[in-house]
Amino acid sequence: MPKNDLLIRSLLRQPVERTPVWMMRQAGRYLPEYRKVREQAGDFLSLCMNPELACEVTMQPLDRYRFDAAILFSDILTIPHAMGLGLHFVEGEGPKFHHPVRHSEDIKALPVPDPEDDLGYVCDAVRLIHKTLDGRVPLIGFSGSPWTLACYMVEGGSSRDFRKVKGLLYEQPQLMHELLEKLTNAVSAYLNAQISAGVEVVMVFDTWGGVLSAEDYQHFSLNYTARIAEKVPQEIPSVLFTKGGGQWLEAMADSGFDGLGLDWTTSITSARHRVGDKVALQGNMDPLTLYASPVVIEQRVERVLRQFGHGSGHVFNLGHGILPDIDPAHVEAMVEAVHKISPQFHRE
Ligand code: CP3
Repeated sequence: MPKNDLLIRSLLRQPVERTPVWMMRQAGRYLPEYRKVREQAGDFLSLCMNPELACEVTMQPLDRYRFDAAILFSDILTIPHAMGLGLHFVEGEGPKFHHPVRHSEDIKALPVPDPEDDLGYVCDAVRLIHKTLDGRVPLIGFSGSPWTLACYMVEGGSSRDFRKVKGLLYEQPQLMHELLEKLTNAVSAYLNAQISAGVEVVMVFDTWGGVLSAEDYQHFSLNYTARIAEKVPQEIPSVLFTKGGGQWLEAMADSGFDGLGLDWTTSITSARHRVGDKVALQGNMDPLTLYASPVVIEQRVERVLRQFGHGSGHVFNLGHGILPDIDPAHVEAMVEAVHKISPQFHRE
């Protein structure tokens, strides 16, 4: 158990002295020291594949700020890359695949990667980070949800309207289920390998769950992420983040995760009423708040803490990842505000 176990206790809704804080994309381009190491690695993917450098950038935000968690430096698209899709990043356009999957033959031919063989660089990075952290704070491992991975794999990259992946879903639902089934097995094996290598919390990113209709969200996303939660060992807290998923909180709270990530469009007050004692909540300050002045940031941190209210079960975070041109001093203002203001919400 890490010395600072605030994150773990909060996710299990046990009492804490103050609200833990970490930030999605906390290791990234807004930090000059990250940009330096990325340059040294050559590109983002080479950085992910080099355990020493991945460990170095994982630690960078912890050396600067009083965060209560480390998150493995990697990407959700390592699984499709290991399945042979050929991941690469085009400057200004984001991720792309050389071999998107569109047809029955493509999907049937996809292998389910063996994490230690095909994603050994991730397992090695986890082992090294775990050792380097030496119990300072918990290490979060992660994966994309099957649906979100399928979006990138079928579209061949980012998409504005998801026409190809939705085309597959509507025209050939059985084939879509076949792809999601394979991805569910791959994600489960991958998260469990990360756990064996030393991660203490796992998070599933369903970044594109929110683009589905309510019924399709249940059938094509939540049913699969729930199976992943089921295979996570009981003692490892798990979090599901569905961007744009605020309207489905009750269903998500029943899906077997210990915590739910909230984007900034959902009121954390009403979210807490709706999920009751079933799950903890993580979020949900608008990442764009960090463009405001430190004084405004502190007021907004106070507002999120007050909106959650008194008691345990809250992990302070942004509602989505930090943007690359944020001033690092503004992150400091956010973290320090949580340290300063949150203890009053945990006194008897
Ligand atoms: O949170 C962390 O600090 C851990 C590392 C992490 C990264 N990606 C590093 C990264 C995590 C947890 C992710 C998850 C991820 N990756 C998601 C789900 C979370 C979310 O943002 O919704 C998604 C959808 C991806 C896919 C992905 N990777 C995209 C769309 C991009 C391009 C983004 C951009 O702004 O160009 C990436 C690249 C990426 N992943 C970067 C980082 C730090 C930027 C890489 C760089 O240029 O240095």
